[in-house]
Amino acid sequence: MIRHPRMKQTPVLKVNPRKPKIEKVQVAADIIRKGGLVAFPTETVYGLGADALNPKAVLALFEAKKRPLDNPPIVHVENISDVYRLAKQVPPKAERLMKKFWPGPLTLVFKRSERVPYVTVAGLETIAIRMPQHAVALALIKESNRPIAAPSANLAGRPSPTSAKHVFDDLNGRIDAILDGGPTRIGVESTVLDLSVDPPQVLRPGGTPLEALRKVLGDVKLHPFVVAEREVPIEKTRSPGMKHKHYAPNAEVIVVEGAIPAVIAKVKELAGSYRLKGVKVGVLATDETIAGYRADVIKSLGSRFNLDAVAQNLFSLLREFDVEGVDVIIAEGVSTEGLGLAVMNRLRKASGYNIVKAEYAGKNLYRRDKCSV
Ligand code: TXA
Ligand code: MG
Repeated sequence: MIRHPRMKQTPVLKVNPRKPKIEKVQVAADIIRKGGLVAFPTETVYGLGADALNPKAVLALFEAKKRPLDNPPIVHVENISDVYRLAKQVPPKAERLMKKFWPGPLTLVFKRSERVPYVTVAGLETIAIRMPQHAVALALIKESNRPIAAPSANLAGRPSPTSAKHVFDDLNGRIDAILDGGPTRIGVESTVLDLSVDPPQVLRPGGTPLEALRKVLGDVKLHPFVVAEREVPIEKTRSPGMKHKHYAPNAEVIVVEGAIPAVIAKVKELAGSYRLKGVKVGVLATDETIAGYRADVIKSLGSRFNLDAVAQNLFSLLREFDVEGVDVIIAEGVSTEGLGLAVMNRLRKASGYNIVKAEYAGKNLYRRDKCSV
């Protein structure tokens, strides 16, 4: 498909997220087969799909997102036999994981087969594959009859899209169609797991919690970057996406971490001092703490004891702060249990590792909220 810098408005096709009309999916599948680009919902975030076996289409995908060419997309499949075509080896551990977690928010890194185009894997010897758990995504892959390369459907560096509107805001005129299946359920991207090392290593925490992987595999390590509290040197990163700026709203982000009372006190102090300087301040709070703050815009991620909800709301709230035009977002840290690990990884990256450790002078009453991994 020929794309011009000023392409016409991208059509948005509404689909039922559970039972999509096959005719609508076929329109989108046709675009994929002809080398075009279609954004579609998955259970994690919206993806921007292209035929993974068509190098021109994948190149167009990088261009539409303004994504650096050294950061490969995840390849999406709708049946396990495709994995054996795309990967050179499928280790027994991967077979166990696919059985247990697919379809679902888990991406596995395999040695790649020769038939995968160079651009699809950004020149790597490995390929990242997942089977999404969303009726629209699965129907699109099936009707296209192709594995679909799909990074998150945002402009590079922006928060991942959890609704069709987010996709439209970033990519209108740059892609061929958007399938709108409503808001996504999980809200953060899939967990990326590397099985080429022993013990297996999480390269990106996401929708499948570390605890669930450990239940199946026993020992699973976190790549040091996942828990980094400051920038990690590029040579040490194995997942190419790690070194790129990610998830960032336009505003400056500060993450305040520690026990709850100390966090509250620190957020208040920071918000107060920024406002005195005339800066427009946003506070990203939680249900338990929101009432205590004063700022220009205050939003809650949900209850800090419901980390699934926090994950679901995160990217959409970061985008809302941009719409409100705040200059700085002061965000409370949450526990790193369950999906909290993915939330904290994204928040820290969004802040460019602008992390403030809040110390509490009094007794540590609310230790429950502080966790380490
Ligand atoms: O939930 C998700 O994973 C979403 C939906 C659309 O499926 N997709 C997504 O794709 O987040 P993307 O391209 O935004 O992120 C893919 C991540 C990047 O960090 C990339 O570096 C990493 O996976 N990745 C891709 N291929 C890899 C490989 N061969 N080895 C290690 N990491 C890889
Ligand atoms: Mg992405």
